[in-house]
Amino acid sequence: MFTRRSFLTGAVLAGGSLLVGSAIWPSSANSDPRKLKIPELIDARNQRQSIALIAQAGKTSFFPERESVTLGYNGNYLGPTLRVHRGDDVEVAITNALREDTTVHWHGLLVPGELDGGPHQLIRPRSTWRPVLPINQPAATLWYHSHVHGRTAKQVYTGLAGLLIVTDDEEKALGLPSEYGVDDLPLILQDRQFEDGALVFPQGMMAAMHGRRGDTLMVNGTVNPVTRVPRRLVRLRLANGSNAREYDLAFADDRLFHWIASEGGLLEKPVELRSLRLAPGERAEILVDFSDGRATTLDTAPDNNVSMMMRMMSGVAGLGGVGRETVVGFEPEGTEALGAKVPEKLSTHERLDVSKAVRRRRFVMNMGMGGMMGRGMGMFGINGHAFDMQRINEKVRLGDTEIWDVSGNMMTHPFHIHGVHFEVLSRNGSDKGIRDQGLRDTVVVREPVELLVRFLQPAISSPFMYHCHILEHEDNGMMGQFVVR
Ligand code: C2O
Ligand code: CU
Ligand code: CU
Repeated sequence: MFTRRSFLTGAVLAGGSLLVGSAIWPSSANSDPRKLKIPELIDARNQRQSIALIAQAGKTSFFPERESVTLGYNGNYLGPTLRVHRGDDVEVAITNALREDTTVHWHGLLVPGELDGGPHQLIRPRSTWRPVLPINQPAATLWYHSHVHGRTAKQVYTGLAGLLIVTDDEEKALGLPSEYGVDDLPLILQDRQFEDGALVFPQGMMAAMHGRRGDTLMVNGTVNPVTRVPRRLVRLRLANGSNAREYDLAFADDRLFHWIASEGGLLEKPVELRSLRLAPGERAEILVDFSDGRATTLDTAPDNNVSMMMRMMSGVAGLGGVGRETVVGFEPEGTEALGAKVPEKLSTHERLDVSKAVRRRRFVMNMGMGGMMGRGMGMFGINGHAFDMQRINEKVRLGDTEIWDVSGNMMTHPFHIHGVHFEVLSRNGSDKGIRDQGLRDTVVVREPVELLVRFLQPAISSPFMYHCHILEHEDNGMMGQFVVR
């Protein structure tokens, strides 16, 4: 039975006691497993001309014989994986074939402000933006997505996102699994809401307050995905492309895996984990050993990033159901093969020097209850200001190192800064957590964090953004901008 979970009554339904509507469409939980889609790979080195991306509208059948209106790059939903190489200048031509403005932001790419693809680099309908991106950063899993102010949530939800992989010689020398789609798998995790098998865009107070969530998990746009994997070490590039949902991932058989890369690239050493949380905008690369040939699934715990108020009103802990849900299944095949081994050492980081920090700035991501009763929506901002395209919130000097103290209220907010990779110095005033290590561009702010940031990319004519990566919060004003000169 397909149960429709509205966002206001979600709590009741999540308790499992009430069915709404008479639809007979199967929910993701009991629909047939499908082969995981692997986005097409565009390797910049194989391109004679610029990489062509077309933002376009289309129709996608997430469920058989049910069509949804969606957006994609060069296709109907999501976009190709772009692979770029350190040291290259990569020319991209993005054509907007939509009937509305869009932008393409390279999340995690270290390029100057005017190439960043933020809200100021609007691509009007029927026009083409041609940035040349100088690739000069370590190998990493990044992503690209729409960032048009006020409509980021809608455009990303509908499909405007894709993966961006940076490679370099240091990474190649490690011999990590790198055969795209075989032992190097892109996994874009998203939750979406369906009604009778068609994608819907949830409205209402819950969607605005907590960000849009859905009752159906998808990976690369595939509902209920399963994929074959070779019987050896496999690299998974996990990207949380959800608008608001956090994942707490672990394998059903509780197997160990190695976390090898954070948002900024390879860690210094692999970290053995059994579970990994991933907030919106965050990525992680992990190595999983499938040589035992046993099938398993990657599952997630329920989403419990709900405000205190909603918890009190609904009496439940989470929005994402009550039990663990399957994200994607793996079926090892072939004979056990000797493949890559988990390297002992991955990379060396040049440590940012905290004694070089020239100033400290404070950022509070705030959700106010003020306007909620009247206009059906809270007030969102940073340090009490809602985002204003015309206002530069901070001015930073190129080359400076700074400490940013970031906190938030009511919920967990993933904080993202454009144009930089930073280190977490502390969390809640004490030592940072195991998942805080490495260089990052997005960090979970549940407790206050202290970030050490170095600004090496100029943003003079066009500012960089910092914002909560719950896209509804961002669209509603939980964002600021800064210039670097
Ligand atoms: Cu992934 Cu400013 O965004
Ligand atoms: Cu970004
Ligand atoms: Cu937020």
